[in-house]
Amino acid sequence: MAKYSDIKGFVFDLDGVITDTSVFHSQAWHQVADKVGAPWSKELEDGLKGISRMDSLEMILKAGNLQDNYTDEQKVDLATEKNTNYLKLVDQMTPANILPGIKDFLDEIKNGGYLLSLASASKNAPKVLQKLNLTDYFPKIVDPKTLSKGKPDPEIYVKGAELIDLKPEQCIGVEDAAAGVESINAAGETSIGIGDKQILKDADINFEDTSEMTLANIEAQMN
Ligand code: BG6
Ligand code: MG
Repeated sequence: MAKYSDIKGFVFDLDGVITDTSVFHSQAWHQVADKVGAPWSKELEDGLKGISRMDSLEMILKAGNLQDNYTDEQKVDLATEKNTNYLKLVDQMTPANILPGIKDFLDEIKNGGYLLSLASASKNAPKVLQKLNLTDYFPKIVDPKTLSKGKPDPEIYVKGAELIDLKPEQCIGVEDAAAGVESINAAGETSIGIGDKQILKDADINFEDTSEMTLANIEAQMN
């Protein structure tokens, strides 16, 4: 692991880290799974975290052995329907949906002179940040449309560091998904996993929930 004193910036995931939208994604995908008749399980739900929209749909169809039952056009329709339902939930969001401690942590980072970028797989990230009144904290956002591969590939976290002109070793990546932690580690950054320690066992630092995330707690785990 890098030394705490080498860290100059943070690359953040959004869904499930900054806000509770991971629950909304799950809710909307569960509806799709029910519609196509694919089985829904905790493992599938956890495995979908961090995964792009179309790859998520493929995973759901595969769980029901249904991947060959739909044309590409039908798959796009299913993904669009999911996104419409997801956006209805996002529309009701307010800054109250920011997860505990996150606003304070973002202020701590900003006031400490650390740089900040967003590495979310979600094409809806700018809209979600706007609903949370957090747009000003994230002038640098990796555009998921520019990615050739999604998480767990390192590309998104490599780009997150590049956007703030830092080397990966100078960055901490923050994630709630196993695929995301894998992506951070493969990018050569220090990984923080938030949530189930068993699912996020590969993270360099684990926090049970966002309220534990402070610079002092991170420093204590790195030295
Ligand atoms: C990730 C979520 O952040 O974004 C996934 O963890 C989601 O659940 C992915 O599928 C893509 O999001 P969107 O908003 O572009 O469909
Ligand atoms: Mg996430």
